[in-house]
Amino acid sequence: MDYETPQFFRVMQYAARAERDVVDMVSGSPDWEPPETLREGLREYADREADAFAYPPSIGLTPLREGIAERRGVDRSRVLVTNGAGEANHLAMTEAIDRGSGREILLTDPVYPYYAGRANLLDAPTHYLPVDHDGQLDPAVVREAASDETAVIVVNSPNNPTGAVYPAETLAELAAIAEKHDAVLVSDEVYDHFDYTGAFESALAHDSDHVVVTNAFSKSMAVTGLRVGYAVFPPEDGPMSDLLDAARTRHMLSVVAGSHPAQFAVLRALQETPPDYYEDNRALLRERIRTFTDALDAAGADYTTPGGSFYVMARFEGFPGTMANVQRLVDEAGVAGMPGEAFGESRADWFRFALVTPRVEEATNRLATFFE
Ligand SMILES: Cc1ncc(COP(=O)(O)O)c(C=O)c1O
Repeated sequence: MDYETPQFFRVMQYAARAERDVVDMVSGSPDWEPPETLREGLREYADREADAFAYPPSIGLTPLREGIAERRGVDRSRVLVTNGAGEANHLAMTEAIDRGSGREILLTDPVYPYYAGRANLLDAPTHYLPVDHDGQLDPAVVREAASDETAVIVVNSPNNPTGAVYPAETLAELAAIAEKHDAVLVSDEVYDHFDYTGAFESALAHDSDHVVVTNAFSKSMAVTGLRVGYAVFPPEDGPMSDLLDAARTRHMLSVVAGSHPAQFAVLRALQETPPDYYEDNRALLRERIRTFTDALDAAGADYTTPGGSFYVMARFEGFPGTMANVQRLVDEAGVAGMPGEAFGESRADWFRFALVTPRVEEATNRLATFFE
């Protein structure tokens, strides 16, 4: 698979040019409202004094780092605010390789394609770890693949695209494997608010110096365009303290600092948004997942029922998940999904549908008609 050019834009462009109405189930950008408190924060920001428009600290606004640290149960010194989870992943993976303890990156198959694209960018060898039908990763597979050449193991739970939520024991074992080989476990937890199993546990629960947790407000607050995320690095007084120092420098030299108004508004929302906001969005998604998977059942398709995140993978007999078939679904069914092959060889027969559209029911009807 060529991961160099992300395929999302190709599919979105194709769907945009279609001559018919298309339900967009391509990208993972939430379609619901951000918290009202976040809008209030942005409005208030517009009327602040001129100095509010100056650089924020490169590492992130102090009260925002404090708010994140408090929620994650870590010391503030470990938190670096980034341009979304994307930059957090980039810094974590790059510094893990740069520290010189191996160069290899262990990824799962299927994989969130940006990790694989980044491995290309870093010119680092990759090793893909198979997962089971439901996307679960067996730590024994990782143990077998890891060696002293391993620089970084990247995992994502709740998972895009499989919807798997890894049990706490899996993450504990992965952290132990990273420790054994002097590698770094990067745990991308950007979908942590979308756990329907109640089983999600952060990799931070395992007190390991070899874990970097990445996250963002992009999905949880429905603000993929604001670009506020963060990484929690190992403690400053531990053996892996260099990771944070190096990431701070790379962040400063590449982006200088994050957006001041965006961080201000996210901080307001973090402090003042009631739990109902998140619960309501989970309920909405549970309902969409049920609608969509019921229809897939009726169509006789194989599919994954996500325990978390907001993606469903589906496989239709005799209709593999290629780019050509994605284009047929756009043209003939009026539904745009992602080709499974964009996520790795193991899911080449599958499609991935993002349930972040109010038109899930319409999409299911269109698919049912197409596959009749
Ligand atoms: C697993 C995963 N990590 C990171 C990101 C990017 O997050 P952000 O928009 O905060 O950079 C996404 C977006 O789809 C994702 O699915």
